[in-house]
Amino acid sequence: MLVGVPPGRPALLSLLWAVAMSSSCLGIPIDEERNQLLMREKMMQLGGQLVLKKEEELANTKLMTLKKAELTQAMKTQNFPPSMHFFQAKSLIEKSEVFNILKKMPKGAALHLHDFGILSMDWLVKNATYRPHCHFCFTPRGAMQFKFAYPTPPTPAPTECSEWILLEKYRKMLQNVTEFDNSLLRNFTMMTENPDVAYANQNVVWSKFEAIFFTIAGLVHYAPVFRDYIFQGLQEFYEDNVLYLELRAMLFPVYELNGTYHDREWSVRTYKEVASMFMKKHPEFIGIKIIYSEHRFKNVSFIMESVQAALELRTMFPRTVAGFDLVGREDTGYSLYAYKEALLIPVSRGVKLPYFFHAGETGWSVNQIQSIEDHHPLSPDWQGTSIDRNLLDALILNSTRIGHGFALSKHPAVWAETWKKDIPIEVCPISNQVLKLVSDLRNHPAAVLMATGYPMVVSSDDPAVFGAKGLSYDFYEAFMGIGGMTADLRTLKQLAMNSIKYSALLQGEKKAAMEAWEERWDKFVADVARSPQHLHARRRGDHVPHPH
Ligand SMILES: *[C@@H]1O[C@H](CO)[C@@H](O)[C@H](O)[C@H]1NC(C)=O
Ligand SMILES: *[C@@H]1O[C@H](CO)[C@@H](O)[C@H](O)[C@H]1NC(C)=O
Ligand SMILES: *[C@@H]1O[C@H](CO)[C@@H](O)[C@H](O)[C@H]1NC(C)=O
Ligand SMILES: *[C@@H]1O[C@H](CO)[C@@H](O)[C@H](O)[C@H]1NC(C)=O
Ligand SMILES: *[C@@H]1O[C@H](CO)[C@@H](O)[C@H](O)[C@H]1NC(C)=O
Ligand SMILES: *[C@@H]1O[C@H](CO)[C@@H](O)[C@H](O)[C@H]1NC(C)=O
Ligand SMILES: [Zn+2]
Repeated sequence: MLVGVPPGRPALLSLLWAVAMSSSCLGIPIDEERNQLLMREKMMQLGGQLVLKKEEELANTKLMTLKKAELTQAMKTQNFPPSMHFFQAKSLIEKSEVFNILKKMPKGAALHLHDFGILSMDWLVKNATYRPHCHFCFTPRGAMQFKFAYPTPPTPAPTECSEWILLEKYRKMLQNVTEFDNSLLRNFTMMTENPDVAYANQNVVWSKFEAIFFTIAGLVHYAPVFRDYIFQGLQEFYEDNVLYLELRAMLFPVYELNGTYHDREWSVRTYKEVASMFMKKHPEFIGIKIIYSEHRFKNVSFIMESVQAALELRTMFPRTVAGFDLVGREDTGYSLYAYKEALLIPVSRGVKLPYFFHAGETGWSVNQIQSIEDHHPLSPDWQGTSIDRNLLDALILNSTRIGHGFALSKHPAVWAETWKKDIPIEVCPISNQVLKLVSDLRNHPAAVLMATGYPMVVSSDDPAVFGAKGLSYDFYEAFMGIGGMTADLRTLKQLAMNSIKYSALLQGEKKAAMEAWEERWDKFVADVARSPQHLHARRRGDHVPHPH
């Protein structure tokens, strides 16, 4: 406060003056104004309007004590998990008390997930690849492929893959099977010790990401694995206190050992059957819905057929098929606008096909692209892709929700309109970080949206590929990183309630889901509120009196 004051007596005088004033009347109007602003922001933020019950207040106090302790600790050590790459932060997150509470928290629903990214890859290695008749081969570019078949299928063309090797026989020849299984696991996830070196740019990271789905395809599309994968995937989310899932599913042909293939209808029916089987075992589980999704590299005529197929599937399975989406890397795929002929089919026929578009999963803004285009004509892939204009078109095409919406804060007109229409974004923090849209999650653009109370849900996209599990890791990042200091139990409660509110459940289903969630929530709150503080407050290095 003394900067700019000439040295000598005047400085001394103003110092004395400042000391005198700081404890008298002049400070008070400032404090009032500050408190009012703080209060206003508290009310604006996501969940800020919620009024907590007495027990929730108590739980909140405990939670926030832990959160503050962890933030203070992080400031000291300069090791703050949300500001680190998830691969390096994961083990730290697992030690966090806040994370432990988030795991126990009933999180409602996971609304942004992809078919084969939901179950820990460990299961594929330890279970799927150990089943009989599992073969593998290497493509000329070194990617692995799998196929279950009996007898051994004919050798593929050399341009496609090497000779099929029976895995059971191969394992018998190995000196160290654990080592081999670990190498398989490395093929199935993005996890690596030094992600910044391994994934220098978005091209590299996306090519590994897509290679993983290519590699596991032969495993997960094998009918017996497909069924068990769904069941185990639900189990993993259920154990993470998630009661309902919406899966973006590509509904690729699923095959049998004898080489026969099933169609999309079979896949949807199988999803439905496995989910009901799961619900018999766990009656509190609410179920799943499928958002049929196609790749945004397909041409318009292909997508026209997919939209047609989506309409048919929805007629056949009105309670299971929720709608349609386009998936894959936005920066290089076709824009929604380029597909308008296909995407306008339902409205032109007067039928309803809800959309759940991925949009704005990009770090580029329209202006940046334009100026690049002005100076260097982009490759044909990029020409006219309008990239983050997908957000505009998602709005115009009445998307029910927006997948990611990472670029939304750069489009104030779209943002205002989607808010008015109550179109939420599905924020997937770890996915955005691993796919290199943001490195320090405190700087995730959803921080702005969260602070203004924009409708959102938190989801995990492909947790298995990123080395995460369920929803809790992403909730941790959203709560500790994106939400900052002020996000509290209200924020978490709002996120959980939003996940049901903005789901594709029908009105009656929603009501039942909300009740089931509330019951679990009250139990969770009571547990946190009544838990002895010292159990939570125990921190490494702190002296904790022994409970006995
Ligand atoms: C894989 O898991 C299924 C149940 O999900 C089990 O029945 C089967 O025995 C397991 N197979 C192997 C090889 O572990
Ligand atoms: C096999 O490899 C694993 C992982 O590299 C190692 O921990 C283990 O000691 C090895 N086992 C044998 C018998 O060499
Ligand atoms: C994938 O697995 C194969 C077979 O074990 C191995 O040669 C290769 O190094 C693995 N790839 C990675 C990225 O670990
Ligand atoms: C192939 O296997 C499936 C599943 O076991 C069976 O339902 C089907 O009838 C078989 N098809 C042929 C042509 O053998
Ligand atoms: C569109 O793509 C499909 C395969 O994905 C191909 O068979 C078809 O010929 C393509 N149509 C046009 C018009 O390019
Ligand atoms: C979007 O919704 C508006 C208002 O209900 C409607 O007029 C318009 O036709 C819809 N557009 C599409 C593409 O579904
Ligand atoms: Zn996604």
